[in-house]
Amino acid sequence: MIGSSTVSNWTPESWRKLPIKQQPVYESEDKLNAVLGEVKKLPPLIFVGEVERLKQQLAKAGNGESFVLQGGDCAERFQDCNREAIMQKLKIILQMSVVLCYGLRKPIIRIGRIAGQYAKPRSADMENVDGKDIPVYRGDIINSFEANAEARKPDPQRIKQAYFHSIATLNYIRALTKGGFADLHHPQSWDLKFVSNAPKKIEYERIVHNIQDAIVFMESLGSREEKLSSVEFYTSHEGLLLPLEEAMTQYMPEYDAHYNLGAHTLWIGDRTRQLDGAHIEYFRGIANPLGLKVGPSSDPRDIIAICNALNPKKDKGKINLISRYGNGKAGKHLPQLIEAMKDTPVVWSIDPMHGNAIKTESGTKTRSFDDILGEVKESLNIHKTAGSKVGGIHFELTGDDVTECIGGSAGITAEQLSRHYETYCDPRLNYSQSLEMAFLVSQLMSPKA
Ligand code: PEP
Ligand code: CO
Repeated sequence: MIGSSTVSNWTPESWRKLPIKQQPVYESEDKLNAVLGEVKKLPPLIFVGEVERLKQQLAKAGNGESFVLQGGDCAERFQDCNREAIMQKLKIILQMSVVLCYGLRKPIIRIGRIAGQYAKPRSADMENVDGKDIPVYRGDIINSFEANAEARKPDPQRIKQAYFHSIATLNYIRALTKGGFADLHHPQSWDLKFVSNAPKKIEYERIVHNIQDAIVFMESLGSREEKLSSVEFYTSHEGLLLPLEEAMTQYMPEYDAHYNLGAHTLWIGDRTRQLDGAHIEYFRGIANPLGLKVGPSSDPRDIIAICNALNPKKDKGKINLISRYGNGKAGKHLPQLIEAMKDTPVVWSIDPMHGNAIKTESGTKTRSFDDILGEVKESLNIHKTAGSKVGGIHFELTGDDVTECIGGSAGITAEQLSRHYETYCDPRLNYSQSLEMAFLVSQLMSPKA
């Protein structure tokens, strides 16, 4: 029957019967439903063919034939939906992907945390501001960052605003990636001013020079424009706010399956991946490739059960398993997980951000560049020993010159964080820290290393 689900006992709304975590409580169900009804009638953000293409590419990442670079804001903000901010984010992700492609000698699959990354899970429901308990900020799609009780009330109208901001963002990304912005004939300025350490600077400049040389060589061979001037770029966000995700879900008769057409791929957060919970129920019914975040609290048996629920046919490229244990902690968890998962196909990705949150003496949330790199190294070594293939990496980053994470060649100190601390949620690598991270990961993962 057209419109029915090929997944047993599943409908786009079957999650509603199950316990759910990390959701806002709206004052009026009617107002929420009215907005969802409007959003449902609007066109999708993406085309199903793109999703299937991504799935095929991810299958290659699982085999070690290509590599995923996933990155962007922790929490996207409506106010950053503008030409400059979108361009800067795209630029850093493209530059990182070129560095990784050169170092790893593999195609890079670029996935932004962008065009819909507006909902955040939080560790507490309330926070104390100036002696008053107010609800926490849950992302621009839910409430305002402004710290007062009224602004923090969940407002369903924000769901519609999020839809239009996502559309506007993705439209501009498509214009940039197809219109020549990504043209490697004219590489966007590779800004290495931040590197004060001379040997490092020489090394990074050598890589950039070699990359540009390789491009000129390719051009002279006649491998023409298309490949170099237009790049593929996919979107992703955490599939957290299920009423919205349900509204973005459509049955696609040509594939006889339901797809979420709000992003090419979505991920399930570490806090909402309960096997008998609403999120896994929703995601087991959609055909998009899915990310699954796995932190220190996870039991490998649960992760296998979740993977089986999400991907009973064990399709390659369906699940991107993103480990995020924290520097020095992967050794305790990752080897067992890899061993337990030997018959469960996944793309193994590393998120070296979410296990590495620290607070400075003055209480600012930050992460250290060395911890981030440390977890990458530790995880790569574990995979090497286990014989598993690392297929991707996941960063929180921005193309702007923010001061949110400490360290890197730019030497950002705890005292300097307040200079340009912008994030509404987790601290991100800035332009120079992101580019440097790409150089270092590319060296660590080079086939010559
Ligand atoms: C995130 O990616 O922003 C996030 C909240 O991650 P995790 O679920 O791994 O904590
Ligand atoms: Co985050």
